[in-house]
Amino acid sequence: FKVPAIDNEPMKTYAPGSAERQALIATIAEMEQQLPFEVPCIVNGKEIKTGNVAKQPMPHDHARHLCTYHEADEATVAAAIDGALAAKEAWENMQWNDRAAIFLKAADLVSGKYRHKLLAATILGQGKNVWQAEIDSAAELADFFRFGVKFVEELYAQQPSKNSAGAWNRVEYRPLEGFVLAVSPFNFTAIGGNLPGTPALVGNVVVWKPSPAATYSNYLVYQILAEAGLPAGVIQFVPGPPAEVVAQAINHRAFAALHFTGSTFIFRKLWKDIAQNLEKYRGYPRIVGETGGKNFHVIHKSAEVRNAVLQTVRGAFEYQGQKCSACSRVYVAASVWKGGFKQQLLEEVAKIRVGPPQDWTNFMGPVIGRPAYDKILGYVQKARDAGNEILIGGTGDDSKGYFIQPTVILSTDPKSVTFVDEIFGPVISVYVYEDDDFEKTLDLIDETTEYALTGAIFSSDRSALIAASKRLRNAAGNVYYNEKCTGAVVGQQPFGGARASGTNDKAGSVSIFYRFVSARSIKENF
Ligand code: ALA
Repeated sequence: FKVPAIDNEPMKTYAPGSAERQALIATIAEMEQQLPFEVPCIVNGKEIKTGNVAKQPMPHDHARHLCTYHEADEATVAAAIDGALAAKEAWENMQWNDRAAIFLKAADLVSGKYRHKLLAATILGQGKNVWQAEIDSAAELADFFRFGVKFVEELYAQQPSKNSAGAWNRVEYRPLEGFVLAVSPFNFTAIGGNLPGTPALVGNVVVWKPSPAATYSNYLVYQILAEAGLPAGVIQFVPGPPAEVVAQAINHRAFAALHFTGSTFIFRKLWKDIAQNLEKYRGYPRIVGETGGKNFHVIHKSAEVRNAVLQTVRGAFEYQGQKCSACSRVYVAASVWKGGFKQQLLEEVAKIRVGPPQDWTNFMGPVIGRPAYDKILGYVQKARDAGNEILIGGTGDDSKGYFIQPTVILSTDPKSVTFVDEIFGPVISVYVYEDDDFEKTLDLIDETTEYALTGAIFSSDRSALIAASKRLRNAAGNVYYNEKCTGAVVGQQPFGGARASGTNDKAGSVSIFYRFVSARSIKENF
């Protein structure tokens, strides 16, 4: 059989007065009336309420919480692992078309029945405005599920090109032996679905620990998969406590892979912990991670100023700079800076409204929580202390929610800390270079930080694009010419970075599926 034609989920605009806008407003209002929700662990398709209750506060209104959730205790995690292993045989032997149909149906539930609910949960729980939530929890999530099916079809079609006379060579793509641990982040509901979904689609069983700050939206994703027909036990939903769940999973003999998105620090720690356990495991675990970023925009003297400004504002401040791909360091040629970039940038940033994400006029919502709020403003203070100029922003208000104004730091020291460390908030550091120092600036961009996730080059001169692309070859896994460094689309720009940014296995492409299968070559003589 052949899977149906796959395309990217069209995004809704929620235009003023439209039926879709009214429907979404009603869903958000209903959710606000019903909260807080109660979220159990789900093991073998059954709800487990351990009584160890934690809260997911709403970042725009931290006195209230979107849900309380039951953290797994040791017995629950053990049951989740045992249950997953028990579900494995039936799942991996299920015909591929049936596994595919479950994910295609889940995509349809995301794009239809559950769309507004997923958006509302992402808006209220993770602080995204409606359009950011639409990109993520509607479009990208549906795309991950649908394109995943197409990618796996491509993977399975990879077969030896040659057979000798009287023999048939073939390759079988086996799921991994054991279970996969998925550890997902708060910043994309779609990644919440993708981290357990990708390994499951190729026949693996998964223990999924969602981010505490995205528990409710991720629980909805679990429910969607279950409604689409995912058999009990194939994905076990185990929301925390993070360190304990993860430690118990990677200490288990049947641990086969980690699928992780989160901080570089935690990823390195887990990799070392896994290394300590190598003798215990049946095989060498697969480790797949997408971690930090310190993503750049470099503006050449030939750049089209208006485009560079607008792309920078969007790349840096959409979702409060909390996309792993967000622009956080900007290198501008002096003639462009003085020739309109500075003025237009500051004008555009001054227009940005910051406030509750369910208010449709706010471009920016809150940052995710107290530690993020303190960390981000701490970096702004460091920049001030080092004598840098805060051109705009630099302040916050945490009285009701964790709101930080979009911030532009101008620095004459391109090696200062805000050009090096990942801040993960609405802050950009700008360095103005002499027009003739373009090559030197490319060296600087490459050498300043250990990260290499995304970057963008703005120029109308092809030779400058070529030079920058060549010199920055290893400085970003996703590079954009004359467009912001965020917004990779499933099936269009495979996403991921190397160096300290991850294993670059490219979410949204066929490559990542290779990491969750173990091929077996078969030769048969006739
Ligand atoms: N797809 C997301 C982006 O590129 C991660 O912003």
